[in-house]
Amino acid sequence: MRHLLNPLDFSVQETEQLLNLASDIEKNPSKYAHKCDGKRLATLFYEPSTRTRLSFEAAMMNLGGTVLGFSSADSSSASKGESVADTIRVISCYANICAMRHPKEGAPKVATLYSGIPVINAGDGGHQHPTQTLTDLYTIQSQKGRLDNITIGLCGDLKFGRTVHSLIESLVRYKNVRFVLISPPELRVPSYIRDEVLKGFEYEEVTNLDDVLPKLDILYMTRVQKERFFNEEEYIRMKDCYVLNKDKLTLAKEDMLILHPLPRVNEISVDVDSDPRAVYFKQVQNGVYVRMALILTLLGLA
Ligand code: NCD
Repeated sequence: MRHLLNPLDFSVQETEQLLNLASDIEKNPSKYAHKCDGKRLATLFYEPSTRTRLSFEAAMMNLGGTVLGFSSADSSSASKGESVADTIRVISCYANICAMRHPKEGAPKVATLYSGIPVINAGDGGHQHPTQTLTDLYTIQSQKGRLDNITIGLCGDLKFGRTVHSLIESLVRYKNVRFVLISPPELRVPSYIRDEVLKGFEYEEVTNLDDVLPKLDILYMTRVQKERFFNEEEYIRMKDCYVLNKDKLTLAKEDMLILHPLPRVNEISVDVDSDPRAVYFKQVQNGVYVRMALILTLLGLA
C-alpha cells in the first residue's frame, strides 16, 4: 500500500507519469468518469480548508466515487480526545482512501502506521503539502512546457509556508533550477531547507522583491501564515510585507508566471488578476486533475 506524505515519495519518473495522467484527464475527462465507481474517499480535515478539501471531493466525484468526512477537529471525535491512530483505524472501515490535513507536523505519517487504506497528506502544520506541489508542478509544466531551466522566486512567508517547503524539495530534482527566496529576515526558510535541501544548489536570499523581479520566470507568492504565529503583534507587523500590484509587474518579464497556492489576503492586489501572467485560478482547476490522477494512482487504478 502506498501513501503520499512528502512530494519525494514519488520519484521524478513517477511524478512525470502522474502529471501525464493529469494531462490526459484534463483532455479526456469522460474516459475517467467511472474509474472509481463504488470507491469512497474520506476527507479528514482537522484544520480549515476550502480548495484542498473540496478539490479532493470534486476529484473523487469526477471519477464516479463518493466522499465522506469532517471539516474541522471540533466536529470529529478529536474534540473528545480520540487519537489520530484510532481515528484512522475507524475510517479504514468506511473508505478506500483518505486525505488528511492536520495542524501537527507528522500527524498524517502517524496515521500511515495504523491505516488500512492509502493516506494522502493534505497539509501537516508548517511542514509539507505535497498535493499542492503536484498542482504547482503541473501548472508550471503546462504553462512553461518544462520544469527545468527556470528561475523561480518564492516570496512571503517562507518559514511557515508548507507549500514552499514541498515545492523547493521537489524542484531541486530538476536541472538548472535557480531559487530566489524573498522574505523578511524573520520569515526565512527553515534552516533544514537552507542547509540540507538547498545545499549545493543555486539559491539566494533577499528581502526586496522589486530588485529581483526582472530575472524571474516564475513568481510564487504566499500569504503570511497568521495561524502559525505565536504573537498577534508580530503577525500584524509582517502581514503586508509584500504586495504585488499592476505597477510592480511592469518590472517583470512578459512571460513570467504568477502562482499562489491561495487563499490570498493582501499580497496580490486584485488588479493583477486580469494579467495573462496570473495563473493562480488556473492552478485551482489543475488541482482537481492532479488529485484525480493521484487517487487513481494510489488505488492502483491508473
Ligand atoms: C495552502 C495551505 O493550506 O498550506 N493552501 C492551500 O492548500 N491551497 C496555503 C495557505 O494556506 O496559505
